[in-house]
Amino acid sequence: MKSKLPNIQETIFTTMSRAALEANAINLSQGFPGFQPDPRLRELIAKYTQTGSNQYAPMMGIPELRAAMSEKTEKCYGLQTDMDKEWTIVSGATQAVFSAVTAVVGEGDEVIILEPAFDSYDPAVLLNKGIPVHVPLNPTDFSPDWELIREKTTNKTKLIIVNTPHNPSGYVWTLEDLEELSNLVEEFGLFVVSDEVYEHITFDGRKHHSLLTHPVLRQRTFVCGSFGKTFHITGWKIGYCIAVPELTEEFRKIHQYVTFTTVRPAQHALAGYLKLETFFDLPAFYEKKRDIFNEGLRNSSLEFEPTQGSFFQQASYAHLSEISDKELALKMTKELKVACIPVSSFYADGSDHKIIRFCFAKNDTELVEATRRLENLSSIL
Ligand SMILES: Cc1ncc(COP(=O)(O)O)c(C=O)c1O
Repeated sequence: MKSKLPNIQETIFTTMSRAALEANAINLSQGFPGFQPDPRLRELIAKYTQTGSNQYAPMMGIPELRAAMSEKTEKCYGLQTDMDKEWTIVSGATQAVFSAVTAVVGEGDEVIILEPAFDSYDPAVLLNKGIPVHVPLNPTDFSPDWELIREKTTNKTKLIIVNTPHNPSGYVWTLEDLEELSNLVEEFGLFVVSDEVYEHITFDGRKHHSLLTHPVLRQRTFVCGSFGKTFHITGWKIGYCIAVPELTEEFRKIHQYVTFTTVRPAQHALAGYLKLETFFDLPAFYEKKRDIFNEGLRNSSLEFEPTQGSFFQQASYAHLSEISDKELALKMTKELKVACIPVSSFYADGSDHKIIRFCFAKNDTELVEATRRLENLSSIL
């Protein structure tokens, strides 16, 4: 059979997690929490499976969850959204991105993807016969290079996919970034898919600026979010898309034939849990982990700037070795027993800047032990 995605191989997350398992290494590669969600959330999902919420949910998601999320969005961002016309609950942010891209992109449409980028963006564009146009982020702080983005935008550009807080760099978009993007959107009539799965994980007093808070971007953007990252439930695969009614109408046409609807007991559990508002503690919870990890990482020979958001810390070894980042990641897993992700896998052409990414959503003891092992990094280079 002729492949629709001939260049796609096994994802690096699968490769590194398997390598970690085989080597019995501390797995700081794939982005999932190494601890359990709040017992109250686990009790809620158990309750809803026991009491009969086990059949199809409405296509757009149960009203209780859309209402709770709409309320949260008003509290967090001072933003009013219509729970019926603007919110759709879906099976994870990956599905939200795929459905939004499918709603917008047709044959020959160009789509700007800022690299390094999460690995699901390219295939979503390619499967819709769009043309990904990769634009590197600034190499020092991973902020968008607006001059370069403008250079690459043409009258064939239909969509730009953005991600803030950013995986893998942690860069958090500023209000100036939103302003730059809105100028581009107005000038070229672009649509935007904004992946905001780490919206509640920002550090050092930084604020996440949802693209929906900007009046111009609000009209053209599909914001894709995930409950997985906020509530330590990546295995539930549940997320959402927020967009103005005209865009949501098109989004739902796709969503209803991708999955139609999303796991119901999880929706009831989350609606109940949101009333507790515990997610507001998330920045402090992860900032402590970032600091514990970075304190240890300072004793390794790696160079890094503390991440601004997300639960990832990037680090450079460019000053230490010419070895490829993939080779280093595998060697580190086997010999030091710490697994990470080589950042070249976030570039379509495999650009290797000698940067690796660690996930610090793990127990503190594991983080301390991992950095203790990384003190021996020079012995394997
Ligand atoms: C930037 C980014 N977007 C989307 C996702 C996927 O989210 P979900 O599990 O809700 O599909 C991830 C998960 O790692 C991510 O890092």
